[in-house]
Amino acid sequence: MQHSGGRYRGAPLPVNRTTRELSSAGRSSPHPEVREEPAPVAWVGPTSPESRPKPDHGHVGIGDPSAQELDPAASEGQSPETEAKVATAMDHPPNGKGPPTVLAAHDLSKRFGSQVAVEHLNLEVHAGEIFGFLGPNGAGKTTTMRMALGLIRPTSGWVEVFGQDVARHGAAVLPKVGPLVETPALYLHLSGRDNLKVFAAPLGGVPPGRIESLLELVDLSERQRDRVGTYSLGMRQRLGLAISLLHNPELLVLDEPANGLDPAGIKSIRSLLRQLRDFGKTVFISSHVLGEVERLCDRVAILRRGQLIQVGRIEEFRDSAGPFVVDVEDAQGALDLLHCQPWGQSARLDGQGRILTEAPGGRGRELNSVLSRAGFVPDGIGRQQRDLEEIFLELTGDAQ
Ligand SMILES: Nc1ncnc2c1ncn2[C@@H]1O[C@H](COP(=O)(O)OP(=O)(O)O)[C@@H](O)[C@H]1O
Ligand SMILES: [Mg+2]
Repeated sequence: MQHSGGRYRGAPLPVNRTTRELSSAGRSSPHPEVREEPAPVAWVGPTSPESRPKPDHGHVGIGDPSAQELDPAASEGQSPETEAKVATAMDHPPNGKGPPTVLAAHDLSKRFGSQVAVEHLNLEVHAGEIFGFLGPNGAGKTTTMRMALGLIRPTSGWVEVFGQDVARHGAAVLPKVGPLVETPALYLHLSGRDNLKVFAAPLGGVPPGRIESLLELVDLSERQRDRVGTYSLGMRQRLGLAISLLHNPELLVLDEPANGLDPAGIKSIRSLLRQLRDFGKTVFISSHVLGEVERLCDRVAILRRGQLIQVGRIEEFRDSAGPFVVDVEDAQGALDLLHCQPWGQSARLDGQGRILTEAPGGRGRELNSVLSRAGFVPDGIGRQQRDLEEIFLELTGDAQ
């Protein structure tokens, strides 16, 4: 696949990756570049971190409950202005969709001492999709993303990025990746615009107008000359995103970019990411809050204690989850019948006297047939509509 930003082909890594960094993986006292502490969003230069000005760390609050209150996707249509901003900010994508898989974890595991952070993880992120990486805190999302960015070395297995093992060929593939891992660490005493310039410098500069169009894209034009220290959390996150887009990457790896944002901030990031996807970018985004990514992602992977629990489209989770609800006159008689079936052991009555049950082969039609043949003709059969958040908690929680 050709990188559209030909001028940046072979550009320095968007994240620094040194032998020291990789060999420090797993130590409790990490090398500064290993992101135990917030570090700059995108180390982009060949210079050592010590030779760069030291950024202030933008502190990002965690787990703002309001982040779960979201507007329906229907209200988040893209405005023509936003589309135009993306088109201006981004170079045109390469011809065609490129490889179907841009990032894949192959039997990936990571241990920190006796702590297993990621265990035999296999997943694929396809070109042009927004792929959600979901799991509660401590599930292993950040660890996986750090391995995907070549920041730490896997204990076993490997991460393929644009067809190459990122731990061995990071220099070749990481210029195509835009990273935003956890908290963006920005130069708080500098303006938003100057932050972009500082991060652009090691790239050898960016095309004329790129900084302006990125500021426009992330809706920071009006505040571009203000010190970042005066920015809200959402503005800092958007600036972090702009920094990760400076070198026009094909793949964005975003670790909890919506963390701590209010609903408006989340909506704005979502809208931006949709536009980038529509423009041909691939987005690999993590979150511990389903609602943040529910209406955004084409597919999601659910991670729990380092292991992949499920992967698929959100609708599939909804459709596959939840028992059937049966309305039938003689509910008790029908329940007795169901309890005699191998698939009906868990059948029960709900508070309204309806039966909640599994169906043979998961098919409602078969359930109808079994009941009807025995004389329990249902008045209605349907899937119980469950809150997606409930399903997510069940999949990721300890209850299961
Ligand atoms: N540098 C580290 N040293 C020791 N344990 C770590 C380190 N980084 C992560 N872990 C542990 O690995 C597990 C996964 O962490 P993490 O990848 O940060 O999860 P998530 O991003 O899903 O919240 C957690 O139990 C965490 O405590
Ligand atoms: Mg994390």
